[in-house]
Amino acid sequence: MSIISAQEAIARLEAGNVVAIPTETVYGLAARIDDAAALRRVFEVKQRPFFDPLIVHVADVAQAKLLTRNWLEVYDVLVEAFWPGPLTFVADKTEAVSPLITSGLDTVAIRCPRHPVALQILREIHIPLAAPSANRFGRVSPTQAAHVIAEFGDEVPVVDGGASEVGVESTVIRVDGKRIEILRPGGVSRIEIKQALAARGLSFEITRAESQASPGHLKTHYQPTSPVVIVENRPWSEELKSRAEQMLDSKFAYVHELSLGVSPQLAARRLYENFRDLSSAPGSLIAVVRTPENSTLEWEAIWDRIERASSLRF
Ligand code: TXA
Ligand code: MG
Repeated sequence: MSIISAQEAIARLEAGNVVAIPTETVYGLAARIDDAAALRRVFEVKQRPFFDPLIVHVADVAQAKLLTRNWLEVYDVLVEAFWPGPLTFVADKTEAVSPLITSGLDTVAIRCPRHPVALQILREIHIPLAAPSANRFGRVSPTQAAHVIAEFGDEVPVVDGGASEVGVESTVIRVDGKRIEILRPGGVSRIEIKQALAARGLSFEITRAESQASPGHLKTHYQPTSPVVIVENRPWSEELKSRAEQMLDSKFAYVHELSLGVSPQLAARRLYENFRDLSSAPGSLIAVVRTPENSTLEWEAIWDRIERASSLRF
C-alpha cells in the first residue's frame, strides 16, 4: 500500500495530500504550494519546526519566474548550466509563495529536479511542489523508497524511483552582488559553479555562509543512529576505539570503517545508505578517515554531512 504510481501521486497531490517522491538528490516529502493544510501536514509529518523554510520544486524556468521578483541575469546562466538538477537558489519571492513555505522570509528557495519521475509529476500537475527531504527532522535523508517506508510506514505513500543518483541534497546558494554564497554545499560543487560562470565570462566570488539561520546548519543534523567518529589522516586503531568508548561512555561491539573510495560522486551516492546500513546493529560505531585526497573541494558536500553526523573527531 505504501508504494504508489506517479499517476496516483499526482491524484493525491491534487487532492491536497502529502506524498513522497524520488528526486536525483534524495526523496522529498511533497505538497502543492497553494494548499496551506497540505503544507502544514509536511511540517507535522516530518516533525519539522516551522522556522525551517522549505524548497519549492518547479517544472521549468517559467514557473520559477512566477515565484520570484528581481530575476537576475546570473540566474539564467546558472539555470542553463544546472537545471534540471541539484542546484537550489534563494531569490526574492512573490505573493504566490506562502509564508508557511518560507517561514515568513521574503525569499524562496527554488530548484528544478532532474529525476524523470519528479519532472513528470511536476509537469503534469502544473503547480510547484514544496518538498523537504522525506525523513523526520534531524535524521538521515532517504535515498531509496525503502528508506521512506522505514521512516514513515503507512503514514506516507511513496513513488519508487530507484536509488537517488546524486545521494546528497542540492547545493543551496544565494547571489549577493558579485558574490555567491553557498548556504548548503550539495550535489553541484563550487568548482562546477565557478566553471559555468567563467564559461560565460562572469566572475563571482564564491563563499561559504558560516553562520546561517537555517537548520541545515545546526550542528546535529543528518544524524544516523550510531555515533560517527572522524579520524584525521591516520588509520583506525584499538587505541582510538578505547578513547571513543571513554568519551562517549559506551561500549562498541562493532566498529565499521566507512571507506569513501576515490570518487566523490560515488561516495555521495552511497553515503546515507551506508549510514543506515552501518548503524542497523546496536552497539555500532562508524569511523571515517579523512585524507588529503578525500578532502579537496569536490568532497565539500560529503564532509559537510559527515561532520554534521559526527560526535567525535580524533
Ligand atoms: O536536494 C534537495 O534539496 C532535497 C530534495 C527533496 O529536493 N530537499 C531538501 O530540502 O533538502 P530540505 O527542506 O531538507 O532542505 C532545505 C534547505 C534547508 O537547509 C533550509 O533552511 C534552506 O534549504 N532554505 C529553504 N528556504 C530558504 C530561504 N528562503 N533562505 C535560506 N535558506 C533556505
Ligand atoms: Mg533535510
